[in-house]
Amino acid sequence: MTNSSAVASLWLRSQLQAGRAATWLLSELGDLVVQLEHPRWRDDPYPLYEQIRQRGPLYRGLSGTWATSSFAVCNQVLRDRRFGVQRVDGRAQGGLLGAPVPAPPEGFVELDPPDHTRLRRLAMPAFNPKRLEAYRPRVQSIVDSLLAKVAGRESLDLVRDLGTPLPITVISDLLGIPDAERGAFAEFGEVVIEGFNGVSSMRQAREVTAVTEHLVALFDRLLRERAVEPGDDVISTLAAAVGEERMTARELHGTAMLLLVAGFETTVNLIGNGMRALLEHPEQWARLRAEPELAAAAVEEALRYDSPVQSTSRVAHTEIELAGQTIKPGQTVVAILAGGNRDAQAYERPEQFDITRSAGPEHLAFASGIHYCLGARLARIEGEIVFRTLAERMPSLRLVGRPERRDTSAIRGLRTLPVTVAQRGQ
Ligand code: HEM
Repeated sequence: MTNSSAVASLWLRSQLQAGRAATWLLSELGDLVVQLEHPRWRDDPYPLYEQIRQRGPLYRGLSGTWATSSFAVCNQVLRDRRFGVQRVDGRAQGGLLGAPVPAPPEGFVELDPPDHTRLRRLAMPAFNPKRLEAYRPRVQSIVDSLLAKVAGRESLDLVRDLGTPLPITVISDLLGIPDAERGAFAEFGEVVIEGFNGVSSMRQAREVTAVTEHLVALFDRLLRERAVEPGDDVISTLAAAVGEERMTARELHGTAMLLLVAGFETTVNLIGNGMRALLEHPEQWARLRAEPELAAAAVEEALRYDSPVQSTSRVAHTEIELAGQTIKPGQTVVAILAGGNRDAQAYERPEQFDITRSAGPEHLAFASGIHYCLGARLARIEGEIVFRTLAERMPSLRLVGRPERRDTSAIRGLRTLPVTVAQRGQ
């Protein structure tokens, strides 16, 4: 180990220990913001969101961090340009950034305007609605081939067999990852995402760093290749922007990494959480089987009812009066999107899973404001095709055993979702 990596190692270890001790203490003292991370709420965090809501539209924890699970206040925070995603000193919030270990290249979700605006605009053509609609048959054919692999089996795992391989194949297509690299790309994605969910050991920090370096090298190689021989993929579009000096190579790496991270586990969790909700509510599953055209509505209800991204946060860049409170510059507000999605002020019977729900505003699962999810339409297409295809072809799906939950809080999803199948005709 070199001197600098030994220092980094010691620094990280001490940070992890100090962080755990502070979190434990604040949690014992009843800080509801710190409780958001507590494993005791993993299975069902919704009563905690309700407790926070009962403390008022904007609650301040002992640590000084604010939180809201009010639909209206979440929406206000996300849309108010006096809040940003970067700290007041211009650095990104949280994670390993600021630590003496190599920080991964930033994606524009971690940036404020004007850089956010410039980079988001460069990535936008890939998410053009017409282009995505034309991509629908490809999503269907990926789903068909994944289901063909499990044909004839009595049991399968909807997360491992379908939920995970679908979005990683879609993102690989989108970025133009060569076939030979796709297996490794999927594995890299898993490691980087585990790291984004919080690094809990030195071993994991080393693994995340190594994989990030591999991915950066891959994106760099593709940048050089596509600059000479462009294709119909996002890296080619971005490589042209690098050539025209509208973005740097490092910004390209950050954007490609963001698309991998933002579009992978979130979509896996839409499929896992959504299929679980459908199968746990047999009358809703029966309704979808009878009317598969309700699949798009089922996706919206799944996103509202058990959101893959439960919360995000913003930093006040100036003093802000909100919901009767004064937020000082530099203070953080956690917008509990999944709490807002269960707010009785916004939705009737918010605790009920109802795929025919018609009243109520658009949910916050894709956030709101300038960072509204760029891949929302793509995620909706993937979810709709999966729900519809399963309802049509595997109507007798049933849950078996206990699904395994991911050990994360801001991102909510399942590691496994075992089901039994009797295919049509059986
Ligand atoms: C069900 C699946 C998905 C969910 C629930 C989801 C949710 C979100 C949320 C909540 C944000 C805002 C984060 C914040 O403001 O802090 C976001 C941003 C983003 N998402 Fe998604 N996402 C999903 C799928 C995708 C897909 C498939 C892609 C692309 C392949 C994607 C790309 C992005 C990007 C690029 C951003 C950053 C937007 C910006 O900062 O301007 N997402 N997503």
